[in-house]
Amino acid sequence: MKIVMAAAECAPFAKAGGLADVMGALPQELAHLGHEVQVIIPKYSLIHERYRQQFRKVGGQSFDFKDEEKDYAIHEFNKQGVRFLFLENDSYFERDSIYGPDDAERYAFFSRAVLDFLARSETAPDVLHVHDWHTAVVPFLLKEDPQYAQLSAHVKTVLTIHNLQFQGTFPKDVFLEQYRMDEKFYENGQVEWQGNFNSLKTGILYADKLTTVSPNYRDEILTEAYGERLESLLAEREADLRGILNGIDTEAYNPKADEHIAQVFNAGDIEGKQANKRAIQKRCGLPIQPDTPLLTMVSRLSGQKGIDVLEQSLPEFLEGDLQFVLLGSGEAHYEEFFQRLEVDYAGKVSVHLGFDEAFAHQLYAGADIFLMPSHFEPCGLSQLISMRYGTIPVANRTGGLRDTVDEYNEDDMTGTGFLSDFKAGLHFDEALSRALSFYDKPDHWNALIHNGMARDSSWSRSAKEYEKLYASLN
Ligand code: GLC
Repeated sequence: MKIVMAAAECAPFAKAGGLADVMGALPQELAHLGHEVQVIIPKYSLIHERYRQQFRKVGGQSFDFKDEEKDYAIHEFNKQGVRFLFLENDSYFERDSIYGPDDAERYAFFSRAVLDFLARSETAPDVLHVHDWHTAVVPFLLKEDPQYAQLSAHVKTVLTIHNLQFQGTFPKDVFLEQYRMDEKFYENGQVEWQGNFNSLKTGILYADKLTTVSPNYRDEILTEAYGERLESLLAEREADLRGILNGIDTEAYNPKADEHIAQVFNAGDIEGKQANKRAIQKRCGLPIQPDTPLLTMVSRLSGQKGIDVLEQSLPEFLEGDLQFVLLGSGEAHYEEFFQRLEVDYAGKVSVHLGFDEAFAHQLYAGADIFLMPSHFEPCGLSQLISMRYGTIPVANRTGGLRDTVDEYNEDDMTGTGFLSDFKAGLHFDEALSRALSFYDKPDHWNALIHNGMARDSSWSRSAKEYEKLYASLN
Protein backbone atom coordinates (compact mmCIF):
# COMPACT_ATOMS: atom_id res chain seq x y z
CA MET A 1 0.00 0.00 0.00
CA LYS A 2 1.03 3.60 -0.52
CA ILE A 3 0.69 5.43 2.76
CA VAL A 4 1.24 9.13 3.40
CA MET A 5 1.33 10.47 6.95
CA ALA A 6 1.10 14.17 7.71
CA ALA A 7 1.75 15.68 11.13
CA ALA A 8 3.21 18.64 12.96
CA GLU A 9 6.06 16.70 14.57
CA CYS A 10 8.35 13.79 13.83
CA ALA A 11 11.31 12.46 15.82
CA PRO A 12 14.22 12.87 15.57
CA PHE A 13 13.73 15.97 13.42
CA ALA A 14 11.22 18.05 15.38
CA LYS A 15 9.82 16.93 18.71
CA ALA A 16 7.62 18.52 21.34
CA GLY A 17 6.01 15.36 22.68
CA GLY A 18 4.90 11.78 22.13
CA LEU A 19 3.35 12.55 18.75
CA ALA A 20 6.87 12.95 17.37
CA ASP A 21 7.95 9.58 18.73
CA VAL A 22 5.05 7.83 17.07
CA MET A 23 5.75 9.55 13.76
CA GLY A 24 9.39 8.55 14.00
CA ALA A 25 8.71 4.87 14.62
CA LEU A 26 5.39 3.65 13.19
CA PRO A 27 6.23 4.54 9.56
CA GLN A 28 9.45 2.52 9.74
CA GLU A 29 7.60 -0.49 10.99
CA LEU A 30 5.03 -0.17 8.19
CA ALA A 31 7.89 0.08 5.70
CA HIS A 32 9.31 -3.15 7.14
CA LEU A 33 5.97 -4.76 6.41
CA GLY A 34 6.48 -3.86 2.76
CA HIS A 35 4.48 -0.66 2.40
CA GLU A 36 5.58 2.46 0.62
CA VAL A 37 5.52 5.11 3.34
CA GLN A 38 6.00 8.84 3.15
CA VAL A 39 5.92 11.18 6.14
CA ILE A 40 5.46 14.88 5.63
CA ILE A 41 6.07 17.58 8.23
CA PRO A 42 6.91 21.29 8.05
CA LYS A 43 10.55 22.18 7.56
CA TYR A 44 11.12 24.02 10.84
CA SER A 45 14.39 25.83 11.36
CA LEU A 46 14.97 23.89 14.58
CA ILE A 47 15.64 20.71 12.57
CA HIS A 48 19.25 19.88 13.25
CA GLU A 49 21.90 20.80 10.74
CA ARG A 50 23.11 17.20 10.52
CA TYR A 51 19.80 16.24 8.89
CA ARG A 52 19.35 19.41 6.87
CA GLN A 53 22.71 18.87 5.23
CA GLN A 54 21.36 15.66 3.77
CA PHE A 55 18.06 17.11 2.55
CA ARG A 56 17.50 16.98 -1.17
CA LYS A 57 15.08 19.40 -2.76
CA VAL A 58 12.64 17.40 -4.83
CA GLY A 59 10.00 19.91 -5.75
CA GLY A 60 8.36 23.22 -5.21
CA GLN A 61 5.16 24.90 -6.20
CA SER A 62 3.00 27.84 -5.50
CA PHE A 63 -0.71 27.79 -4.92
CA ASP A 64 -3.49 30.08 -3.93
CA PHE A 65 -3.73 30.45 -0.17
CA LYS A 66 -5.99 33.18 1.18
CA ASP A 67 -6.11 34.81 -2.24
CA GLU A 68 -2.36 35.07 -2.46
CA GLU A 69 0.19 33.01 -4.34
CA LYS A 70 2.20 31.21 -1.67
CA ASP A 71 5.28 29.10 -2.31
CA TYR A 72 6.39 25.87 -0.79
CA ALA A 73 9.32 23.61 -1.48
CA ILE A 74 9.62 19.91 -0.68
CA HIS A 75 12.84 18.39 0.66
CA GLU A 76 13.44 14.69 0.95
CA PHE A 77 15.40 12.57 3.40
CA ASN A 78 15.31 8.79 3.27
CA LYS A 79 15.78 6.78 6.42
CA GLN A 80 15.16 3.09 7.07
CA GLY A 81 12.88 2.61 4.14
CA VAL A 82 10.75 5.68 4.82
CA ARG A 83 10.65 8.78 2.67
CA PHE A 84 10.54 11.79 5.00
CA LEU A 85 9.40 14.98 3.31
CA PHE A 86 9.85 18.47 4.70
CA LEU A 87 7.61 21.22 3.50
CA GLU A 88 9.36 24.54 3.37
CA ASN A 89 7.89 27.98 3.67
CA ASP A 90 10.11 30.38 5.54
CA SER A 91 7.49 32.85 6.65
CA TYR A 92 5.55 30.08 8.42
CA PHE A 93 8.18 27.61 9.58
CA GLU A 94 11.52 29.36 9.85
CA ARG A 95 11.17 29.73 13.62
CA ASP A 96 12.96 28.51 16.72
CA SER A 97 10.02 26.61 18.14
CA ILE A 98 7.55 24.20 16.63
CA TYR A 99 4.41 25.90 17.90
CA GLY A 100 3.46 29.55 18.11
CA PRO A 101 0.58 31.99 18.45
CA ASP A 102 -0.36 31.88 14.74
CA ASP A 103 -0.72 28.10 14.53
CA ALA A 104 -4.23 28.31 13.07
CA GLU A 105 -2.82 29.93 9.97
CA ARG A 106 0.41 27.93 9.87
CA TYR A 107 -1.30 24.54 9.96
CA ALA A 108 -4.06 25.68 7.61
CA PHE A 109 -1.28 26.51 5.17
CA PHE A 110 0.48 23.22 5.86
CA SER A 111 -2.74 21.21 5.37
CA ARG A 112 -3.49 22.97 2.09
CA ALA A 113 0.08 22.60 0.87
CA VAL A 114 0.12 18.87 1.64
CA LEU A 115 -3.04 18.43 -0.44
CA ASP A 116 -1.65 20.59 -3.22
CA PHE A 117 1.51 18.50 -3.29
CA LEU A 118 -0.42 15.23 -3.36
CA ALA A 119 -2.85 16.50 -6.00
CA ARG A 120 0.10 17.29 -8.27
CA SER A 121 1.95 14.01 -7.62
CA GLU A 122 1.82 11.35 -10.29
CA THR A 123 0.30 8.65 -8.15
CA ALA A 124 -2.15 9.12 -5.36
CA PRO A 125 -1.61 7.34 -2.04
CA ASP A 126 -4.07 4.69 -0.91
CA VAL A 127 -4.17 6.08 2.59
CA LEU A 128 -3.64 9.56 3.91
CA HIS A 129 -3.11 9.29 7.65
CA VAL A 130 -3.27 12.53 9.62
CA HIS A 131 -2.53 13.13 13.30
CA ASP A 132 -4.02 15.46 15.91
CA TRP A 133 -5.72 18.79 15.26
CA HIS A 134 -2.93 20.33 13.16
CA THR A 135 -3.77 18.18 10.16
CA ALA A 136 -7.28 17.09 11.15
CA VAL A 137 -8.94 19.45 8.67
CA VAL A 138 -7.29 17.63 5.74
CA PRO A 139 -10.04 14.97 5.34
CA PHE A 140 -12.67 17.74 5.20
CA LEU A 141 -10.77 19.75 2.58
CA LEU A 142 -10.14 16.63 0.56
CA LYS A 143 -13.83 15.76 0.46
CA GLU A 144 -15.43 19.17 0.24
CA ASP A 145 -13.10 21.27 -1.89
CA PRO A 146 -13.74 20.47 -5.58
CA GLN A 147 -10.14 21.24 -6.53
CA TYR A 148 -9.10 17.95 -4.88
CA ALA A 149 -11.91 15.89 -6.44
CA GLN A 150 -9.59 13.66 -8.42
CA LEU A 151 -7.35 12.94 -5.45
CA SER A 152 -10.37 12.39 -3.26
CA ALA A 153 -11.66 9.66 -5.53
CA HIS A 154 -8.59 7.55 -4.74
CA VAL A 155 -7.55 8.39 -1.23
CA LYS A 156 -8.97 7.13 2.06
CA THR A 157 -8.24 8.98 5.27
CA VAL A 158 -7.39 8.01 8.84
CA LEU A 159 -7.19 10.43 11.76
CA THR A 160 -5.27 9.45 14.88
CA ILE A 161 -6.08 11.31 18.08
CA HIS A 162 -2.99 11.46 20.26
CA ASN A 163 -4.60 13.79 22.74
CA LEU A 164 -8.25 14.80 22.70
CA GLN A 165 -7.58 17.82 24.90
CA PHE A 166 -5.98 19.77 22.06
CA GLN A 167 -8.69 20.45 19.51
CA GLY A 168 -7.52 23.47 17.53
CA THR A 169 -10.54 25.58 18.46
CA PHE A 170 -10.83 29.04 16.91
CA PRO A 171 -13.49 31.67 16.23
CA LYS A 172 -15.60 31.32 13.10
CA ASP A 173 -13.66 34.07 11.29
CA VAL A 174 -10.49 32.03 11.51
CA PHE A 175 -12.19 29.25 9.59
CA LEU A 176 -13.45 31.64 6.93
CA GLU A 177 -10.17 33.52 6.60
CA GLN A 178 -7.75 30.61 6.68
CA TYR A 179 -9.62 28.03 4.68
CA ARG A 180 -11.78 30.14 2.36
CA MET A 181 -14.44 27.48 2.36
CA ASP A 182 -18.15 28.21 2.18
CA GLU A 183 -19.73 29.61 5.32
CA LYS A 184 -22.41 26.93 5.07
CA PHE A 185 -19.99 24.36 6.51
CA TYR A 186 -19.86 26.43 9.65
CA GLU A 187 -23.56 27.22 9.72
CA ASN A 188 -24.68 23.63 9.26
CA GLY A 189 -22.34 22.49 12.04
CA GLN A 190 -19.92 20.42 10.02
CA VAL A 191 -16.84 22.30 11.17
CA GLU A 192 -18.47 24.03 14.12
CA TRP A 193 -18.72 22.68 17.64
CA GLN A 194 -20.29 24.48 20.57
CA GLY A 195 -19.88 27.92 19.04
CA ASN A 196 -16.43 27.69 17.52
CA PHE A 197 -14.57 26.33 14.57
CA ASN A 198 -13.07 23.08 15.85
CA SER A 199 -10.31 21.47 13.78
CA LEU A 200 -10.32 18.11 15.57
CA LYS A 201 -14.10 17.82 15.45
CA THR A 202 -13.93 18.42 11.71
CA GLY A 203 -11.51 15.54 11.34
CA ILE A 204 -13.60 13.28 13.57
CA LEU A 205 -16.57 13.90 11.31
CA TYR A 206 -14.77 13.54 7.99
CA ALA A 207 -12.00 10.96 8.34
CA ASP A 208 -12.92 7.51 7.03
CA LYS A 209 -11.48 5.85 10.14
CA LEU A 210 -10.46 7.15 13.52
CA THR A 211 -7.93 5.78 15.91
CA THR A 212 -6.55 6.68 19.25
CA VAL A 213 -3.43 5.41 20.89
CA SER A 214 -4.62 2.80 23.39
CA PRO A 215 -7.69 0.56 23.71
CA ASN A 216 -8.55 1.88 27.16
CA TYR A 217 -8.36 5.55 26.16
CA ARG A 218 -10.56 4.66 23.20
CA ASP A 219 -13.27 3.52 25.60
CA GLU A 220 -12.68 6.40 28.01
CA ILE A 221 -13.17 9.14 25.41
CA LEU A 222 -16.68 7.90 24.75
CA THR A 223 -17.57 8.97 28.28
CA GLU A 224 -18.23 12.43 29.64
CA ALA A 225 -15.32 12.23 32.08
CA TYR A 226 -12.72 11.91 29.30
CA GLY A 227 -14.57 13.00 26.17
CA GLU A 228 -13.48 16.66 26.35
CA ARG A 229 -17.03 17.63 25.27
CA LEU A 230 -16.72 15.58 22.07
CA GLU A 231 -18.07 12.33 23.52
CA SER A 232 -21.44 12.52 21.78
CA LEU A 233 -19.81 13.09 18.39
CA LEU A 234 -17.32 10.28 19.03
CA ALA A 235 -20.20 8.02 19.99
CA GLU A 236 -21.72 8.60 16.55
CA ARG A 237 -18.50 7.33 15.03
CA GLU A 238 -17.93 4.56 17.54
CA ALA A 239 -17.94 1.82 14.89
CA ASP A 240 -15.06 3.53 13.06
CA LEU A 241 -13.03 4.32 16.17
CA ARG A 242 -10.22 1.94 17.13
CA GLY A 243 -7.73 2.00 19.98
CA ILE A 244 -4.32 0.80 18.82
CA LEU A 245 -1.62 0.75 21.45
CA ASN A 246 1.53 2.71 20.71
CA GLY A 247 4.89 1.03 20.76
CA ILE A 248 8.30 2.63 21.16
CA ASP A 249 11.31 2.72 18.89
CA THR A 250 13.21 -0.21 20.41
CA GLU A 251 16.39 0.73 18.57
CA ALA A 252 16.44 4.32 19.74
CA TYR A 253 15.63 3.11 23.26
CA ASN A 254 17.86 0.11 23.75
CA PRO A 255 19.72 -0.31 27.06
CA LYS A 256 22.08 -2.77 25.36
CA ALA A 257 23.29 -0.25 22.80
CA ASP A 258 22.38 3.25 23.94
CA GLU A 259 25.13 5.72 23.13
CA HIS A 260 23.69 8.35 25.48
CA ILE A 261 24.07 6.37 28.71
CA ALA A 262 27.07 5.85 31.00
CA GLN A 263 27.09 2.08 30.67
CA VAL A 264 25.04 -0.24 28.48
CA PHE A 265 23.33 -3.08 30.30
CA ASN A 266 20.85 -5.91 29.98
CA ALA A 267 18.34 -7.62 32.18
CA GLY A 268 20.89 -9.95 33.74
CA ASP A 269 23.31 -7.18 34.62
CA ILE A 270 21.93 -5.06 37.40
CA GLU A 271 25.42 -3.70 38.13
CA GLY A 272 25.29 -1.95 34.74
CA LYS A 273 22.13 -0.21 35.85
CA GLN A 274 23.87 0.86 39.06
CA ALA A 275 26.63 2.52 37.03
CA ASN A 276 24.00 4.64 35.31
CA LYS A 277 22.50 5.58 38.66
CA ARG A 278 25.92 6.74 39.89
CA ALA A 279 26.31 8.80 36.71
CA ILE A 280 23.03 10.64 37.38
CA GLN A 281 23.93 11.30 40.99
CA LYS A 282 27.28 12.66 39.89
CA ARG A 283 25.86 14.83 37.12
CA CYS A 284 23.17 16.22 39.40
CA GLY A 285 25.48 16.84 42.36
CA LEU A 286 23.53 14.40 44.54
CA PRO A 287 25.33 12.21 47.08
CA ILE A 288 26.49 8.95 45.49
CA GLN A 289 24.27 6.56 47.40
CA PRO A 290 23.58 3.24 45.68
CA ASP A 291 20.93 2.22 48.20
CA THR A 292 18.84 5.40 48.16
CA PRO A 293 15.84 5.08 45.83
CA LEU A 294 16.24 7.46 42.91
CA LEU A 295 12.93 8.71 41.54
CA THR A 296 12.54 10.53 38.28
CA MET A 297 10.04 12.17 36.01
CA VAL A 298 10.57 13.24 32.40
CA SER A 299 7.49 15.13 31.30
CA ARG A 300 5.67 18.08 29.91
CA LEU A 301 4.60 20.01 33.00
CA SER A 302 0.88 20.36 32.36
CA GLY A 303 -2.30 19.63 34.29
CA GLN A 304 -2.76 16.32 32.46
CA LYS A 305 0.43 14.95 33.97
CA GLY A 306 -0.74 15.19 37.58
CA ILE A 307 1.91 17.58 38.88
CA ASP A 308 -0.70 18.73 41.41
CA VAL A 309 -0.61 15.22 42.84
CA LEU A 310 3.15 15.46 43.29
CA GLU A 311 2.78 18.87 44.92
CA GLN A 312 0.83 17.10 47.63
CA SER A 313 2.83 13.90 47.91
CA LEU A 314 6.47 14.52 47.15
CA PRO A 315 7.50 16.77 50.04
CA GLU A 316 6.48 14.19 52.60
CA PHE A 317 8.28 11.39 50.80
CA LEU A 318 11.36 13.57 50.52
CA GLU A 319 11.56 13.74 54.30
CA GLY A 320 12.72 10.13 54.04
CA ASP A 321 15.73 8.68 52.29
CA LEU A 322 14.97 9.50 48.64
CA GLN A 323 16.37 11.34 45.66
CA PHE A 324 14.32 12.92 42.89
CA VAL A 325 15.39 14.27 39.50
CA LEU A 326 13.04 16.13 37.18
CA LEU A 327 13.50 16.85 33.49
CA GLY A 328 10.76 18.81 31.78
CA SER A 329 9.18 22.13 31.14
CA GLY A 330 5.76 23.64 30.91
CA GLU A 331 3.38 25.70 32.98
CA ALA A 332 5.17 28.34 35.05
CA HIS A 333 3.52 27.49 38.38
CA TYR A 334 4.65 23.87 38.09
CA GLU A 335 8.18 24.92 37.15
CA GLU A 336 8.21 27.15 40.23
CA PHE A 337 7.01 24.32 42.44
CA PHE A 338 9.91 22.12 41.34
CA GLN A 339 12.41 24.97 41.74
CA ARG A 340 11.20 25.51 45.29
CA LEU A 341 11.45 21.80 45.97
CA GLU A 342 15.06 21.86 44.82
CA VAL A 343 15.82 24.59 47.36
CA ASP A 344 13.81 23.05 50.20
CA TYR A 345 15.34 19.62 49.71
CA ALA A 346 18.83 20.59 48.65
CA GLY A 347 21.00 17.53 48.13
CA LYS A 348 17.97 15.35 47.44
CA VAL A 349 16.29 17.04 44.50
CA SER A 350 17.68 18.11 41.15
CA VAL A 351 15.51 20.01 38.69
CA HIS A 352 16.26 20.51 35.00
CA LEU A 353 13.83 22.72 33.15
CA GLY A 354 13.90 22.20 29.41
CA PHE A 355 14.47 19.17 27.29
CA ASP A 356 17.62 17.19 26.63
CA GLU A 357 17.30 13.93 24.74
CA ALA A 358 20.58 12.44 26.01
CA PHE A 359 19.81 13.30 29.62
CA ALA A 360 16.34 11.80 29.24
CA HIS A 361 17.94 8.49 28.21
CA GLN A 362 20.29 8.68 31.18
CA LEU A 363 17.37 9.15 33.56
CA TYR A 364 15.42 6.27 32.06
CA ALA A 365 18.51 4.09 32.43
CA GLY A 366 19.73 5.08 35.86
CA ALA A 367 16.65 5.81 37.97
CA ASP A 368 14.92 3.22 40.13
CA ILE A 369 11.37 4.55 39.88
CA PHE A 370 9.56 6.60 37.24
CA LEU A 371 6.60 8.71 38.37
CA MET A 372 3.52 9.13 36.16
CA PRO A 373 0.53 10.36 38.17
CA SER A 374 -1.39 11.40 35.02
CA HIS A 375 -5.06 12.40 35.34
CA PHE A 376 -5.51 11.11 31.82
CA GLU A 377 -3.03 9.57 29.41
CA PRO A 378 -3.93 8.63 25.83
CA CYS A 379 -1.08 6.14 25.74
CA GLY A 380 2.04 7.41 27.44
CA LEU A 381 5.42 6.37 26.19
CA SER A 382 7.58 7.11 29.23
CA GLN A 383 6.30 4.11 31.14
CA LEU A 384 7.20 1.88 28.18
CA ILE A 385 10.68 3.35 27.92
CA SER A 386 11.16 3.08 31.69
CA MET A 387 10.25 -0.59 31.74
CA ARG A 388 12.63 -1.27 28.88
CA TYR A 389 15.44 0.20 31.01
CA GLY A 390 14.42 -1.63 34.18
CA THR A 391 13.01 1.47 35.86
CA ILE A 392 9.80 0.74 37.72
CA PRO A 393 6.77 2.86 36.80
CA VAL A 394 4.48 4.16 39.52
CA ALA A 395 1.51 5.43 37.54
CA ASN A 396 -2.17 6.25 37.71
CA ARG A 397 -4.55 3.65 36.31
CA THR A 398 -5.87 5.58 33.34
CA GLY A 399 -5.74 5.48 29.54
CA GLY A 400 -2.77 3.66 28.09
CA LEU A 401 -1.13 3.40 31.52
CA ARG A 402 -3.80 0.92 32.47
CA ASP A 403 -3.17 -1.06 29.28
CA THR A 404 0.60 -1.25 29.76
CA VAL A 405 1.52 -1.32 33.45
CA ASP A 406 0.54 -4.38 35.47
CA GLU A 407 0.33 -4.14 39.24
CA TYR A 408 3.07 -6.17 40.92
CA ASN A 409 1.87 -9.32 42.62
CA GLU A 410 4.28 -10.44 45.31
CA ASP A 411 2.86 -13.96 45.52
CA ASP A 412 3.75 -15.04 42.04
CA MET A 413 6.21 -12.19 41.35
CA THR A 414 4.38 -11.04 38.25
CA GLY A 415 3.67 -7.47 37.21
CA THR A 416 5.74 -4.51 36.16
CA GLY A 417 4.81 -1.57 38.36
CA PHE A 418 2.47 0.05 40.85
CA LEU A 419 -0.79 1.82 40.18
CA SER A 420 -2.94 4.37 41.90
CA ASP A 421 -6.54 4.81 40.79
CA PHE A 422 -7.77 8.35 41.35
CA LYS A 423 -11.29 7.63 40.16
CA ALA A 424 -11.56 4.73 42.61
CA GLY A 425 -10.05 6.75 45.47
CA LEU A 426 -6.70 4.96 45.52
CA HIS A 427 -4.16 7.71 46.07
CA PHE A 428 -0.77 8.04 44.44
CA ASP A 429 0.91 8.01 47.89
CA GLU A 430 -0.28 4.47 48.40
CA ALA A 431 1.11 3.28 45.09
CA LEU A 432 4.45 4.96 45.72
CA SER A 433 4.64 3.58 49.26
CA ARG A 434 3.96 0.11 47.94
CA ALA A 435 6.73 0.49 45.37
CA LEU A 436 9.18 1.69 48.03
CA SER A 437 8.25 -1.19 50.32
CA PHE A 438 9.76 -3.59 47.78
CA TYR A 439 12.83 -1.52 47.04
CA ASP A 440 15.00 -3.13 49.69
CA LYS A 441 13.76 -6.65 48.95
CA PRO A 442 16.17 -7.58 46.16
CA ASP A 443 14.28 -10.69 45.05
CA HIS A 444 11.14 -8.70 44.42
CA TRP A 445 12.88 -5.65 43.02
CA ASN A 446 14.89 -7.75 40.60
CA ALA A 447 11.72 -9.55 39.53
CA LEU A 448 10.13 -6.18 38.80
CA ILE A 449 13.14 -5.08 36.77
CA HIS A 450 13.16 -8.34 34.83
CA ASN A 451 9.44 -8.32 34.17
CA GLY A 452 9.58 -4.78 32.84
CA MET A 453 12.61 -5.41 30.65
CA ALA A 454 11.01 -8.54 29.22
CA ARG A 455 7.88 -6.67 28.09
CA ASP A 456 7.59 -6.38 24.33
CA SER A 457 6.89 -2.71 23.61
CA SER A 458 7.99 -2.84 20.00
CA TRP A 459 5.80 -1.51 17.22
CA SER A 460 5.52 -4.81 15.38
CA ARG A 461 2.14 -5.94 16.66
CA SER A 462 0.52 -2.50 16.50
CA ALA A 463 1.85 -1.75 13.02
CA LYS A 464 0.03 -4.87 11.87
CA GLU A 465 -3.17 -3.51 13.38
CA TYR A 466 -2.76 -0.29 11.42
CA GLU A 467 -2.10 -2.39 8.34
CA LYS A 468 -5.38 -4.23 8.89
CA LEU A 469 -7.21 -0.98 9.40
CA TYR A 470 -5.82 0.47 6.16
CA ALA A 471 -6.75 -2.70 4.28
CA SER A 472 -10.33 -2.45 5.55
CA LEU A 473 -10.65 0.96 3.86
CA ASN A 474 -10.44 -0.21 0.29
C1 GLC B 1 0.32 12.48 23.39
C2 GLC B 1 -0.33 11.80 24.59
C3 GLC B 1 0.46 10.57 25.04
C4 GLC B 1 0.73 9.67 23.84
C5 GLC B 1 1.42 10.45 22.73
C6 GLC B 1 1.70 9.63 21.49
O1 GLC B 1 1.50 13.10 23.78
O2 GLC B 1 -0.47 12.72 25.68
O3 GLC B 1 -0.25 9.85 26.01
O4 GLC B 1 1.57 8.61 24.24
O5 GLC B 1 0.60 11.54 22.34
O6 GLC B 1 0.57 9.04 20.92
